Amino acid sequence: MLISLIGYMGSGKSTIGKELAEKLNFKFIDFDKYIENSENKTIVEIFKNGGEIKFRKIERNYLLKILGEETNSVIAMGGGTPVYYDNIEKINQYSASFYLRMTPTELYKRLLKEKNKRPLIARIENENLTEFIGKHLFERRNYYEKSKFKIDIKNKNVKQISEEIIQNLQRT
Ligand code: S3P
Repeated sequence: MLISLIGYMGSGKSTIGKELAEKLNFKFIDFDKYIENSENKTIVEIFKNGGEIKFRKIERNYLLKILGEETNSVIAMGGGTPVYYDNIEKINQYSASFYLRMTPTELYKRLLKEKNKRPLIARIENENLTEFIGKHLFERRNYYEKSKFKIDIKNKNVKQISEEIIQNLQRT
């Protein structure tokens, strides 16, 4: 069984994924790291060398590979993964997908500290960041909402969110 975690940058996909994988005795895969290790380049370098379009093609290829090959794993997807090609349909076909839903204000608080690691927001001025996230999330929301399960994560800790995910899985 595969579980995929979906959501905007900074929504805690990796932190929650690690906890969830531990609880289920599954393998944890951070999809960004998987791409970096496979390409032997950081995401920032891939963006720098080929731009976002090149990155999305690479991301798509590894998505199909990982969905076809892995089992008993929790995969923390990249924030943009479900938005391109028919990636969300493939994700839903091969995994139980969970959208970790969070508000732009909460995301802003988390992302401010780690802006530089994220090529899509690195050059946005701090005073424009909330608006950028709001608009970006509005554009992406329809794809995120196609996930099989949606979890509102505001004011919940990692443990509570992992338990909620497991409860949802048990109900199906
Ligand atoms: C992206 C999110 C990043 C990474 C890349 C693009 C996006 O992943 O895949 O920088 O388009 O939202 P995280 O959501 O893990 O930061």
